[in-house]
Amino acid sequence: MTEHVRIAVDNAVMRITLARPEKKNALTQAMYVAVGEALTRAESDPTVRVVLIDSDGDSFTAGNDIADFAAIATGASSREQMQTHIFLEALARGTKPYVAAVAGLAVGVGVTMLMHCDVSYVAEDARLSTPFVNLALVPEAASTWLIPARIGYARAFQLFALGEPIDGKTAAAIGLVTAALPAAEVCAKALATAKALAAKPAGALQATKKLMRDSAAILAVMAREGEAFGNRLRSPEAAEAFRAFAERRAPDFSKIQG
Ligand code: COA
Repeated sequence: MTEHVRIAVDNAVMRITLARPEKKNALTQAMYVAVGEALTRAESDPTVRVVLIDSDGDSFTAGNDIADFAAIATGASSREQMQTHIFLEALARGTKPYVAAVAGLAVGVGVTMLMHCDVSYVAEDARLSTPFVNLALVPEAASTWLIPARIGYARAFQLFALGEPIDGKTAAAIGLVTAALPAAEVCAKALATAKALAAKPAGALQATKKLMRDSAAILAVMAREGEAFGNRLRSPEAAEAFRAFAERRAPDFSKIQG
């Protein structure tokens, strides 16, 4: 268990709150395990009908904890020790509706996990970005398939390759998320929607979600991405990117060949 994730079930809604605000809710291995296990529990617990994912503090999440990436890049820990797959597989296999409430920053997996949320409300002024290439990595969570499917190849490539943030309003306008709202209204709207979904016939809802998502295909894309991600993590480019983050400077890739 970790104190950086809170889980509570109330009136058939499991609320999973990312609670590491001092690090912008950057996700550690322990946090992935906690969220992944909660999602798996939600799936088998008949008293849970909907999952709501939200966060403490001013950011949804700054993505994967870069110190964990750096530990692999330097050999201090191995890719096999990473627990991310527990979280990703739970997302891929989930058949109960997931609702997300996103305010502030959503970086990397903070955006790609939304592709597994059936409803995502974002603050109009939220900043969403997927700077995997900037970190010399590749996108994950089946987002190389799911994001182009939602917003088209051209916009997806722009998000992935340039890594520039888009605001919540734009994210909603291009169909990346469900809707953008004033920041103060996001949580209440997400909770109201979670409650509305919890009152629907659960069997029909789950059957609909299963029909709309090809979870075997999603897992296959995740496996392909995972292999590329592992190779990239150990690349000289990535070592430079993580060093630069730790040293609070811009990375210099100019002297590194692929
Ligand atoms: N991993 C580990 N720590 C992180 C983090 C991450 N992904 N994102 C933020 N933090 C930490 C910072 O190191 C800082 O810690 P410190 O106070 O001990 O120095 C703290 O969270 C606050 O972040 P800070 O950078 O001071 O806030 P900011 O508002 O200036 O910038 C971000 C916020 C998210 C833009 C910036 O932190 C950032 O670029 N983070 C990396 C995001 C990223 O690339 N994630 C991986 C995507 S694949």
